[in-house]
Amino acid sequence: MTLAGKHILLIVGGGIAAFKALDLVRRLRERGAVVTPVLTRAGSEFVTELSLSSLAGCRVYSDLWDLTDEAEMGHIQLSRAADLIVVAPATANLMANMASGHAHDLATTLLLATDTPVLIAPAMNVRMWEYPATRRNLAVLQGDGIAVVGPNEGDMACGEYGPGRMAEPLEIVDAIAARLASGPLAGRHVIVTSGPTHEPIDPVRYIANRSSGAQGSALGAALRDLGATVTFVTGPASVAPPEGVTLVRVETAAEMLAAVRAALPADAAIFAAAVADWRVGTAATQKLKKGPGGHSTLDLAENPDILASVARMGEGRPALVVGFAAETENVLEHARAKRLRKGCDWILANDVSPGTGIMGGTENALTLVTQDGSEDWPRDTKIALARKLARRIADHLGARGA
Ligand code: C5P
Repeated sequence: MTLAGKHILLIVGGGIAAFKALDLVRRLRERGAVVTPVLTRAGSEFVTELSLSSLAGCRVYSDLWDLTDEAEMGHIQLSRAADLIVVAPATANLMANMASGHAHDLATTLLLATDTPVLIAPAMNVRMWEYPATRRNLAVLQGDGIAVVGPNEGDMACGEYGPGRMAEPLEIVDAIAARLASGPLAGRHVIVTSGPTHEPIDPVRYIANRSSGAQGSALGAALRDLGATVTFVTGPASVAPPEGVTLVRVETAAEMLAAVRAALPADAAIFAAAVADWRVGTAATQKLKKGPGGHSTLDLAENPDILASVARMGEGRPALVVGFAAETENVLEHARAKRLRKGCDWILANDVSPGTGIMGGTENALTLVTQDGSEDWPRDTKIALARKLARRIADHLGARGA
């Protein structure tokens, strides 16, 4: 999701993770957000006002008693002008102050005075994170409606290992985008696969297909526009991927499967990719040569079925799994059989016979096959059909309350 025009008030607390707040400012501005930094006194021990203001492209606020500010803007207004207040890093001390409603400096006063949503990215030593007082404070803050991203588990600056590392800047950006999203799919994570896959024959040749990725890109954009957090896993497509999604580029079916697995959990997964059914068993490490003694046959191995493996995964299965069936004959019959064979909830069938101009074209005609029957969606642009499908997905997830 683009953050264009969104205003983030970023409170930088005093922890070693404060250095990551500098990268966070950069990432937020890349997405189009306006960032106003607030630096606590402890935070200024780790990063300077100068580096924060240079990256943010505006001044840094730090002092509650700066009368010029009070005259110009005032701390109340500063806190309310933002679409979201982000505290990164949120130290154990800042969390304790927030939970108990203290207001003894600019940051805590802003947090107490605001009616703007708040997201915190905790960062602290693992023992501090696990200490009962911090657990209590976290529960209070979550009960107050404050969103939390991280912390992650890993090596810590203090030499210990465990949960307490601040979430990475890009994870925080995603959490911010999800918090700011509006629409019926806000807060939902949807995985979309798209495009063809390329299966190497040798270092310069590959097996491919005519998929352009147009339907997948249109779907990614339509789901994003309804507020979903979209992970878009794409093979080498000729149509550009949508903006404002988490983009994962892959080449082969095996890479696509790994990327989809890594992106789980999700509320829905839509498999629009034209995955190659076969790959070359062992791709040559050197360019194959023609002529006497050269290769004339390829040994093919079947690729994993990504859709079927997710549809049949049991625990952790997305609430809605949707596949496509590109057919050239007996479209409905094949689609019904495919839905059952693969174990997915919905199949969108389309006729990709050469005369239709659908594969690689801008239009499509779909038949939605569910357990309740089938429904024809007449020929229209891939964008219009994607919007229709995205709305249907939103209705379905909304109705399930899943
Ligand atoms: O079996 P077929 O290729 O016709 O199935 C099409 C559907 O299955 C599409 O949704 C496609 O994205 C998905 N698929 C997959 N992995 C494969 C083959 C197909 O996810 N290896």
